[in-house]
Amino acid sequence: MAEPKIGRLVVVGIGLIGGSLALALKAAGACREVIGVARRARTCEQAVELGIADRAVTDLGEILPQLEPGDVVFVAVPTLAVESVFADLQRGLPAGVTVTDGASVKGSVVAAAEKVWGRVPEFLVPGHPIAGSEQSGVTAARDDLYIAHRIILTPLADTAAEHLARVEAMWRAVGGEVLNMPVDEHDEVLAATSHLPHVIAYGLVDTLAHDAENENIFRYAAGGFRDFTRIASSDPVMWRDIMLANREAILKAIDLYTANLASLRAAVAAGDSEHLMGVFTRAKAARDHFTKMLARKAYTDSMQAQEVTFIAQPGGTVTGKLRVPGDKSMSHRSIMLGSLAEGVTEVEGFLEGEDALATLQAFRDMGVVIEGPVGGRVTIYGVGLHGLQAPPGPLYLGNSGTSMRLLAGLLAGQAFDVTLTGDESLSKRPMNRVADPLREMGAAIETGPEGRPPLVIKGGRKLHGIDYRLPMASAQVKSCVLLAGLYADGATSTTEPAPTRDHTERMLTGFGYEVQRDGARATLRGGGKLAAGRIDVPADISSATFFMVAAAITPGSDVLLEHVGINPTRDGVINILRLMGADLELQNRREVGGEPVADIRVRHAPLKGIRIPEKQVPLAIDEFPALFVAAACAEGETVLTGAEELRVKESDRIQAMADGLKVLGVDAEPTPDGIVIQGAGQGTAFGGGSVDSLGDHRIAMAFAVASLRADATIRIQNCANVATSFPNFAELATRAGMHLQLA
Ligand code: S3P
Repeated sequence: MAEPKIGRLVVVGIGLIGGSLALALKAAGACREVIGVARRARTCEQAVELGIADRAVTDLGEILPQLEPGDVVFVAVPTLAVESVFADLQRGLPAGVTVTDGASVKGSVVAAAEKVWGRVPEFLVPGHPIAGSEQSGVTAARDDLYIAHRIILTPLADTAAEHLARVEAMWRAVGGEVLNMPVDEHDEVLAATSHLPHVIAYGLVDTLAHDAENENIFRYAAGGFRDFTRIASSDPVMWRDIMLANREAILKAIDLYTANLASLRAAVAAGDSEHLMGVFTRAKAARDHFTKMLARKAYTDSMQAQEVTFIAQPGGTVTGKLRVPGDKSMSHRSIMLGSLAEGVTEVEGFLEGEDALATLQAFRDMGVVIEGPVGGRVTIYGVGLHGLQAPPGPLYLGNSGTSMRLLAGLLAGQAFDVTLTGDESLSKRPMNRVADPLREMGAAIETGPEGRPPLVIKGGRKLHGIDYRLPMASAQVKSCVLLAGLYADGATSTTEPAPTRDHTERMLTGFGYEVQRDGARATLRGGGKLAAGRIDVPADISSATFFMVAAAITPGSDVLLEHVGINPTRDGVINILRLMGADLELQNRREVGGEPVADIRVRHAPLKGIRIPEKQVPLAIDEFPALFVAAACAEGETVLTGAEELRVKESDRIQAMADGLKVLGVDAEPTPDGIVIQGAGQGTAFGGGSVDSLGDHRIAMAFAVASLRADATIRIQNCANVATSFPNFAELATRAGMHLQLA
């Protein structure tokens, strides 16, 4: 049994809330004795019979003289009855005893204390366990009610640390997660999240119950009605009190809801499908997100919270036909341009990975109606270049550098302010590369320390076109400047030091926006329009790469990767693998929606080490983790130079790969702008061991591929982010013949 956290517990009001705390504290051995106090003698008897209280009385005054420092009085009566309990306490509470409560409104509890004591006493710790059920009364008490539930405490300036600590320890002992909040904030948050739903549920059931046809209505009311109105079975006195005690905040919440309901009514009346889809898709996304939050898988912290380890058993071959998910770069841009277009854009082959979904959510947050994705299909109801609305809060972009950098450009010219944030990895990535040119264009944009996220962009700025010479080969920077150029006066040009992916230029053209291209230079003029259309997103060559390398390094392999985008600004991996001697065939070459596409067949062939031509680097920028694995299997030395950009990706990919390869016994020496790898040639190329992907999706998948040529198990830590670009990687890898398990 645990150490008692408190002395005695006096529960004033032995119902669901008070009784459950008593049962749980007793079960945890966290208090010395429970004394119940109830108005009715029968409740006192039941509390003792049910083992909730060791003894129970109807008069609080009777037991006050017995209390000692370290004891806790928990006031669990309906909100408006709290004041009379405080008045009883005021008449005889011994010093050193802590008082706390469980009322759903905190402002009224504080007001009651001020009325009784003339101020909020130092021993009072107002609190509110966010737990309950529609059942009430002493018989509803359960010892597990508070496990993994939040307990909000609203201590005031005068609350003594000793009393606060005691109440915190008490709640933790029963499994609660304690957090502190100011009183007003608590009451506003609860008005919206708890009090409003109760008003609506009571109101709906009452409305239907008064209906002449009610018998029929209730007879046919099935799951939805039952789920939605469950809380209308809650204790009416308790809820009447809450309504009266939190009047102002609840009125605000009701007004907001009424306005929303009125606009839904108007949409139904007018047959406004777009409005209805807007509300329903936004609500569904929010509710799904909330469900994940409850399961401790919040979108916002899934990257950190969810631990995924790949256990890659050695051996296997890779065979069969595979279609890897849609291109990440094009998926981002399809949402961005589709949202800003006039008309409805239909997307197929959309990548349902977390990065592209972060972009999608950002546009939903800015008022764009987006249906899907369902099986890669997305429908976007464009709002035009000037139709975005201010989002309700910061836009959280997870792990996605592309979302943040491209959005920075798009948002620099909007009328509203916006803040862009990301996960731990994104928060370390350089943003001055986009902030600098945007400022030159007239944008007001602030970064965190050392040019890192968050980005705070001020709205209402007039942008002017610039002629920008990129200091590094980066499609994200180029795209950012061009997208800002849509909102700028005059012409905006970018000149890149080496060709980088040109999806922004191609897709803008596809949306009917004129982009002039002249070698390394791209130019557009602000003030035009985007016209909606259809987008067919091919499979992502960066994701296909893992299977291309897998087949290339593994004897007996023969894989056909279908419908892969082979845009010449993305085909470095094909060129590099061919230079290394890979057997790689492009079949069924065709053009789909302005992008070249092919099926890529790869069969095993012995590879040789090469000096990678620097001009291939930007064309294969995301493919190097996998290419390093190929190099480790090649005969002789492979040297990469001119690739310092790899150090500022989702991780420092040169260091992360060198570290992991060394663990697996490969001679891999990082250099400031590349790496030198001594390949094993034929036979085993890797030993086993435990490597850390550092939360970088491509490092994780690259080491999984290495297992095909390993002689022992490779454990790869921190693989949750594989879902950012390739959510079904493990499934496809297994189907192709790799021995990959998740732990
Ligand atoms: C991308 C550009 C590249 C690439 C990233 C996607 C894009 O980044 O690494 O995965 O969609 O524009 P850089 O522009 O930083 O090279």
